[in-house]
Amino acid sequence: MPSMLDDVRSLSRRGLLKGASASALLAALMPAASRSVWANPVFASNPFSLGVASGDPLPDGVVIWTRIAPDPLNGGGMPMQAVPVSWEVSSDDRMRTIVRKGETLARPELGHSVHVEVGGLDPGRPYWYRFRAGRDASRVGRTRTAPAPGSMPASLRFANVGCQRYEDGYFTAFRHLAREELDFVFHYGDYIYEYRARNSPTPTVREIAGDELHTIVDYRNRYALYKRDADLQAAHAAHPFLSSFDDHEVDNNWAGEFSEEDGSGASPAVPPEYFALRKQMAFHAWYENMPVRRAQLPRGPSVQAYRRLRYGSLAEINVLDTRQYRDDQPCDDGTKEACPAVSNPKAQILGEYQERWLFDGLARSDATWNVLAQQVMVMRRDLGTAEPSLFSMDKWDAYPAARNRLMRHLEATRAKGVVVLTGDVHNAWAGDLKADFLNPSSATLATEFVATSISTNGDGFEIDDLRRAVLARNPHIKYFNNRRGYSVHEATRERMVIHHRAVDTVSQPGAPLITKASYAVEAAKPGVVGA
Ligand SMILES: [Fe+2]
Repeated sequence: MPSMLDDVRSLSRRGLLKGASASALLAALMPAASRSVWANPVFASNPFSLGVASGDPLPDGVVIWTRIAPDPLNGGGMPMQAVPVSWEVSSDDRMRTIVRKGETLARPELGHSVHVEVGGLDPGRPYWYRFRAGRDASRVGRTRTAPAPGSMPASLRFANVGCQRYEDGYFTAFRHLAREELDFVFHYGDYIYEYRARNSPTPTVREIAGDELHTIVDYRNRYALYKRDADLQAAHAAHPFLSSFDDHEVDNNWAGEFSEEDGSGASPAVPPEYFALRKQMAFHAWYENMPVRRAQLPRGPSVQAYRRLRYGSLAEINVLDTRQYRDDQPCDDGTKEACPAVSNPKAQILGEYQERWLFDGLARSDATWNVLAQQVMVMRRDLGTAEPSLFSMDKWDAYPAARNRLMRHLEATRAKGVVVLTGDVHNAWAGDLKADFLNPSSATLATEFVATSISTNGDGFEIDDLRRAVLARNPHIKYFNNRRGYSVHEATRERMVIHHRAVDTVSQPGAPLITKASYAVEAAKPGVVGA
C-alpha cells in the first residue's frame, strides 16, 4: 500500500504542487474518505429528477433504484464524489411502518445511481419505498415481492412493454400503465434510441437534439432525457420492472460483436474491438439506469442479462438476451429473400450456453406457465405479398435452425404453457408457434404475443392492406394492430387472457386508453383463442 507521503511525492513529481495553495496541499493530505464523500450535500435543484424504480422481485426482496442528478441533461451535475443516500421500505403507502432501512453511497463511477437489493421482506405483497439525499427526499414508489416459493397464487398480472422513441410521441401509454394492477412489467428493450435526433413521423413538440450516441456521456444524457418524462416515472413508481434490452440501447440491429456498420452497407466497417468499447459504455449507462441486481453489472463489454424469475408454481419467467450471443444477421440484414446463409444448421440467436440454460430450465420446470420474455419475433412471418417469400433478417426467421431446435425441444419435453413475449417491430401481433409453420395442421407448441411500441413510429393506424395480406399468407398469425401501447397478461392456472391496450394518438398528450382486442391461451392447449 503506498503511503499518503507517496501520494504527495508523486503529485510533486508531476509538478502539480508547483504554485499550489496551502488548502490544496491540505486536501491532498486529508484522509481519502473525507475527500471522496460529500457528507452533507446541498443540491442546487431536486436531485431525484429521474424518479425512482424497482425491479427483479424475489419472494423476500426487490431492487430499489434511483439516481442523484440535479442537472440530468448535463451528465448529472454532480461533483466527482460519492454521496450518502438513505432509503426506507414501508409496509404502508404513507411510509408510517418502516420495515427496512439503510444507507448506501451514490458513486461517480455509476453516474451517482444506487441499486439497493432489499431483503427480509414478506412474499406476494406490495411495499412502498423512498430515498433521501442531503435535505431532499424522493417521491414514494410502490413495488411488489414475488409469491412464496412453491405456492400457487390465484393469478398473476403482468405487462409487456418497450420501444419508446422519445421524439416519436408522448409516453401516454406509460401513464395508463401506472394505473394498472400488476405484479410486474417486463420491458423487452428499446428503452432509449441511440440514433441522431429525427423529425417525428407525426407532429409533436417532443423535439430532441444530438447526434448518434457513442460515449458513456452520450448514453447517460439520452437516458436522462427519457427518464425525466413524468409518465415513464409514474410507471416505474407504480410497478417493479424486469428490464432487458434490445438493439437500440447500443446500436441499431447490432449482433454479438458486430455493430450495424459491419461492412455490408455503405458505411465503413467498425472494427469489433472498437464496437466492444461502445457496447461497454452503452451497457454501463444501461446498468446505471435500470433497477437490476449486481449480477447484471457489466464486466467489460458483456452483461449477464438472461435470468429466471419465479412466481410460485404458477409461472417461471425466462428473461432472454437475443443480442449478445447471436450470429451476425445473414444476407447483409434487411428484409429480403432468404440467401443460403439462412440455412446454416449451426445458426445461433441465443448462443449455445444460453440455449442450453433455457432448455434445461424448461425441461425441469413444473410451473403452469413458462414465459420466454425476449425481444424479436420467433414465429415465421413471410412479409412477401406474392412470390418470393421475404423475411426480416433481424428476427428468428433469419436463424431457422435455432428456432427449430427450440420447437423440437418443446415437442420432446412436452413443455407446458409456453408463452413467448416479444417486441421490437412496433406493432401488436399474436400467433401460434407451429411444429411445422408450413403445415397449418401440425401441432401448436407454444403461443407468441408481440407488444406494440409505447411511442416509436408515432400515431400509427389499426391495420392496412399490406398487413391484411401478411395475415392471409401466414395462417398461424392471428392478430395485428398498429397503435401505440402495451399488452397486459392475466394468468390463472387454467388460462391466460391478453389485452392489447393502446391510444389512438401519441402526437398529442393525454389520449384515452382503449382495449383494442382481448384474446387468450389455455394452459392445457397452446394457441391463440378468441382473437
Ligand atoms: Fe424499437
